[in-house]
Amino acid sequence: MAEIRAVRWDDNALVLIDQTELPATETYVSCADVDHVVDAIVRLVVRGAPALGAVGGYGVAVALLQAERENWDTARRDSEIDRIRNARPTAVNLAWGVDRVRPFVADGVAAVLAEANRIAEEDEAANRELSRRGADWILANTDQRPLRVLTHCNTGSLATTAWGTALGIIRELNVRGEVEQVFADETRPLLQGSRLTSWELTHDQIPHVIQSDGAAASTILRGLVDVAIIGADRIARNGDTANKIGSVSVALACHAAGIPFVVAAPSSTVDLATASGDDIEIELRDGAEVIEFAGVRVAPDGAQGFNPAFDVTPARYISAIVTEQGVVEPAETPTVDELVAKEI
Ligand code: MRU
Repeated sequence: MAEIRAVRWDDNALVLIDQTELPATETYVSCADVDHVVDAIVRLVVRGAPALGAVGGYGVAVALLQAERENWDTARRDSEIDRIRNARPTAVNLAWGVDRVRPFVADGVAAVLAEANRIAEEDEAANRELSRRGADWILANTDQRPLRVLTHCNTGSLATTAWGTALGIIRELNVRGEVEQVFADETRPLLQGSRLTSWELTHDQIPHVIQSDGAAASTILRGLVDVAIIGADRIARNGDTANKIGSVSVALACHAAGIPFVVAAPSSTVDLATASGDDIEIELRDGAEVIEFAGVRVAPDGAQGFNPAFDVTPARYISAIVTEQGVVEPAETPTVDELVAKEI
């Protein structure tokens, strides 16, 4: 699905495939003002850490064009840019994308757009490189052929600017003829796994089944999985990794079963300013997403939902963190400082 572009710039607007509507319909949303950009981020029209990085960059261009149209002063312009930066707290890529283009604001929209385009191009290149490195590592650290792979949430073309991270590794393994089957966790409550990952795997004709999140630990402990591969929203300096809620349960099951648990992300997701997982803000979403199913309330009147969107997997349960720069093994070596020190 390399041709699907979840995020692009067209006709002076940020254009997004509406991921809330997939797989039923393939519709596109055009964001020409900051309200629409923020709304798209909050409602998960666009989601996935690397995709949010590109949205951060293009979002600043949207803000600059609106500032020109509506004669904003500098303070208003900057506060609107901050609104985009802070629309979701956990994926570091969103703030990273905004911060990366900010130095170009004084040079105007064309300069901001050029940098946003560079973010998008670099993300695709990073994903393809980390996929090769991740596939190599997995083939060197597993025995079963072909592989039975478990993944959680959606980390493919839809979650990035192209190709994918964890799903990019699965694609690479599949190209090499090494995938027997993928277990795609459905990913409650918003079903990124059953709606989006399955859509991408179906498109690429990669054999897969969708399982409930609650089935994952049992599937792993029954010996039906050879490796779990997930993405990341923020990797702290010590290797602790925030990702979609349910990821830590997968990691604990892999640890108990003695199979590799692999985290895949571009280096833009590594946040050296955050010391450990304890310092990562976990987005708490509306409880209604948990107590409703397909918009219909299923819990009794008065029941409240608890809806953390992410969890943190401690580094000691992560067999490998794969970026485009290389692979570190946090369960063996305690920090991603090593990744920086080695400049791999
Ligand atoms: O709430 P979401 O759908 O934005 O959560 C996405 C995830 O947790 C992904 O696994 C992560 O962003 C990596 S995407 C390559």
